[in-house]
Amino acid sequence: MTTAPKTFHVKSFGCQMNVYDGERMGELMAAEGLTPVADADAADLVVLNTCHIREKATEKVYSDIGRIRKHAAAGGRKPMIAVAGCVAQAEGAEIVARARVDVVVGPQAYHNLPDLVARAAAGAPALDTDMPPESKFGALPRRRRVGPSAFLTVQEGCDKFCTYCVVPYTRGAEVSRPMGAIVDEARALVDAGAREITLLGQNVNGWRDADQNGLEALIHALDRIEGLARIRYTTSHPNDMTDGLIRAHAEVEKLMPFLHLPVQAGSDRVLKAMNRSHTRDTYLRLLDRIRAVRPDIALSGDFIVGFPGETDAEFEETLSLIDEVGYAQAFSFKYSPRPGTPAATMQDTVPAAVMDERLQRLQAALNRDQAAFNAATLGRTCEVLIERKGKLPGQMLGKSPWLQSVHLMTDAAIGDIVEVEVVRADPNSLAGVERVRAAA
Ligand code: 5AD
Ligand code: SF4
Repeated sequence: MTTAPKTFHVKSFGCQMNVYDGERMGELMAAEGLTPVADADAADLVVLNTCHIREKATEKVYSDIGRIRKHAAAGGRKPMIAVAGCVAQAEGAEIVARARVDVVVGPQAYHNLPDLVARAAAGAPALDTDMPPESKFGALPRRRRVGPSAFLTVQEGCDKFCTYCVVPYTRGAEVSRPMGAIVDEARALVDAGAREITLLGQNVNGWRDADQNGLEALIHALDRIEGLARIRYTTSHPNDMTDGLIRAHAEVEKLMPFLHLPVQAGSDRVLKAMNRSHTRDTYLRLLDRIRAVRPDIALSGDFIVGFPGETDAEFEETLSLIDEVGYAQAFSFKYSPRPGTPAATMQDTVPAAVMDERLQRLQAALNRDQAAFNAATLGRTCEVLIERKGKLPGQMLGKSPWLQSVHLMTDAAIGDIVEVEVVRADPNSLAGVERVRAAA
């Protein structure tokens, strides 16, 4: 590629932080005068914002590069391809060797994307996986147009070193953004149309300000922003769930009754081998304390089946923990060995067929609990934030305080908050009927 691209498309894989980073890269390229296009196959520049968490996610990027090239070649085009995100960080120059992409940029360096694209257009190597001490955020343009529910990264990186996980290597050490910068960005998001903000971090509840105040201080500051109706945060580590943060769930009305608090496994031996630094019991007692201040809180989690050495009996302990908690929703994964992590060299790996069977049983239990949680909201009235149009004329889709998808017939607009009675509960969504319109 020797000409500068005029159009671009950003495709994000993986976690919500990648969605946020993808939006910021899009804003950056738009500020440089490039036009966003919805179709990756029509863009001069395709940015693949990648995920490295499991092997499958990593392989996706290579198959995507091949597919994009093939489509473009059929139309006589040769788009510039940039690999961003955690695969870029972990594999760096290897991606250029394996897939001959034009640009490789890590998650802490993407403010340099315009420079890298210009370098690539001039035929020069364009790779940046630095983790500079000064943050990229200061170099990004102000947020201008967002939907009613927006993400805001407040913390990045992880110091926990769970033995299966690549995040401490790809995203680096735990760093908190300063309170002032976050509040400014939150105000810009609200001015740009956000009514709900989800604070993001690999260990979001490890966020600290310069005086070592925890996430609750930030939540209280955001609570004072007029026009902001809802606050959420994700992902949290059980060990960083302080008393102050738990209390915020009772004190701050805007803080939604939903908590994603991964436990990963139910057996203490497995938790220890994972270096989770909490036990089954400390996790369960923590949930007791949270439920004591916020009895209706919806709990969510992440689970890994087939960690090296996991026995049938240990897997049963994960099932019994799920029974005990009653999650409103959760994510579950088969263990995937990641290069460079301690678990990747552990012996006694679990056969694929056993992993498959465990995952099926785990997901059946989680689906059962999700359906039960949804059924328990039947007949209740709650507020729904309208996020987009539904498939039927007059139908809108939104979210309940407990993060359930709700569909209803209404003339409310996107961004409105409406009072809704839940009239049907399905395993994955609720149907509602509008009551009185809340003042916007
Ligand atoms: N294999 C499978 N699942 C993993 N996760 C993280 N690393 C791995 C791995 N190597 C899961 C954990 C984490 C979520 C984001 O991804 O459950 O909480
Ligand atoms: Fe990975 Fe554990 Fe850090 Fe979560 S807490 S990002 S699972 S190392």
